[in-house]
Amino acid sequence: MNAPLIAFFNNRVAAGKSTLVYHLAWMYADLGVPVLVADLDPQARLTATFVDDEALEEVWGADPPCTRFQVIGEGLALLPSGIHLSMLDEPGIRNRLDLVRSAAETRQAGIVLMNLGPGFDPLNRAALLAADHVLVPLPPDRQSLATLAVLGDAFQAMPEPVRLLGYILLRRSVRLGQPMSTQLWSAIQLLMSGPEWFATIREYPGLLSLAHEARRPTFQLKPGDGAMASLLKAAQDTGKEYRTLALAIASRAKLELPIEPSPARISS
Ligand SMILES: Nc1ncnc2c1ncn2[C@@H]1O[C@H](COP(=O)(O)OP(=O)(O)O)[C@@H](O)[C@H]1O
Ligand SMILES: [Mg+2]
Repeated sequence: MNAPLIAFFNNRVAAGKSTLVYHLAWMYADLGVPVLVADLDPQARLTATFVDDEALEEVWGADPPCTRFQVIGEGLALLPSGIHLSMLDEPGIRNRLDLVRSAAETRQAGIVLMNLGPGFDPLNRAALLAADHVLVPLPPDRQSLATLAVLGDAFQAMPEPVRLLGYILLRRSVRLGQPMSTQLWSAIQLLMSGPEWFATIREYPGLLSLAHEARRPTFQLKPGDGAMASLLKAAQDTGKEYRTLALAIASRAKLELPIEPSPARISS
């Protein structure tokens, strides 16, 4: 069976997509599901989170660039991105999506996470239509609400239906209710009570900088990475959040997990 293609999309920048895809990828690998991450954002920030500068130089300097998947860890591979992807014409876009599928097959992936850049450019439109499921990560702010209205119209205007799996609220501890107007807070609550609602991922800026440095997800940080005492506990707690979210996505996407996941399989 072909691995489901799951696209993460929000037509604004800094929504938290790449961070989410990075952590979910490691989490699925932990759960025993072979993962292919396809970075389709030409800005390639996710690619640069997975691989170091030396590997990046090789990926971007290859002829043609960005076409070979990189093995990141056990059960985890990355089809890298680069600015070249912003120049793809229609056949180039079709080739890129074929490349995603063939890399998934070679890797025997159980799930493909596609990280899309912002905007409704031809690459994103093609990826949205190719996706078996589309997830929209949203920070809880006014711009997200405006984005949602625009997204709804844009999805409607696509030539074929976009298979929206749901919304994920990010960075909850922007202290909902406090800096926000009542109106904004009620709109977010309304969204959270709807059927397309998924889960929230908390804000953890201190942990993220350690994770970047260590090139690990927050839930795999160790004391040696600078995650001591309460920070270590917080890092482990992020694992519970991502695990819950990964399982919820798998269940909604009807993805069969290879084993009944148990907490013991989660890295600490
Ligand atoms: N849960 C989080 N807690 C704190 N900061 C976050 C969180 N998720 C993302 N960020 C930060 O927000 C910024 C944008 O995130 P990123 O994942 O690159 O967004 P996008 O891919 O949507 O542009 C980055 O600086 C990132 O470190
Ligand atoms: Mg990104």
